[in-house]
Amino acid sequence: MKFLIINGPNLNLLGRREPDIYGDQSYEALCRMIREHAEQNGSTADFFQSNHEGAIIDAIHAADGVYDAIIINPAAYTHYSYAILDALKAVDVPAYEVHISHIDERESFRAISVTAPACVGQLYGHGFDGYLMAMDYFLEGGK
Ligand code: DQA
Repeated sequence: MKFLIINGPNLNLLGRREPDIYGDQSYEALCRMIREHAEQNGSTADFFQSNHEGAIIDAIHAADGVYDAIIINPAAYTHYSYAILDALKAVDVPAYEVHISHIDERESFRAISVTAPACVGQLYGHGFDGYLMAMDYFLEGGK
């Protein structure tokens, strides 16, 4: 399978950013872990990280017809970007939403995801492993 892994704002600062919440491993370490998991399963993973909503929307549009699945952590956009919701709905690529932290146990605004309704599933609170679990959903035949 061909995976596109999209990470939203501030996730480039993983390892330095609030390590008590997001852990001490870097964004590069996250990408390495995902790439290895893809390779072990005869798949490929490409990565896109942006701090800009429009760039994320462009990446979702460009994924259409190119990737089998998107794994997306829209970060703070999760909680208010109807534009990312619409972009995910507009393309014919299934997406799985992932959050590193337990968004249900933090500030109340984080418990709301406006983007999840455009995704086939949502995982949170599993740290970096959540990305691999989302990949496994598709690798095991989920659509
Ligand atoms: C996050 C949770 C969001 O609420 C937050 O804005 C992030 C990261 C997570 O992975 O836990 O930037 O998506």
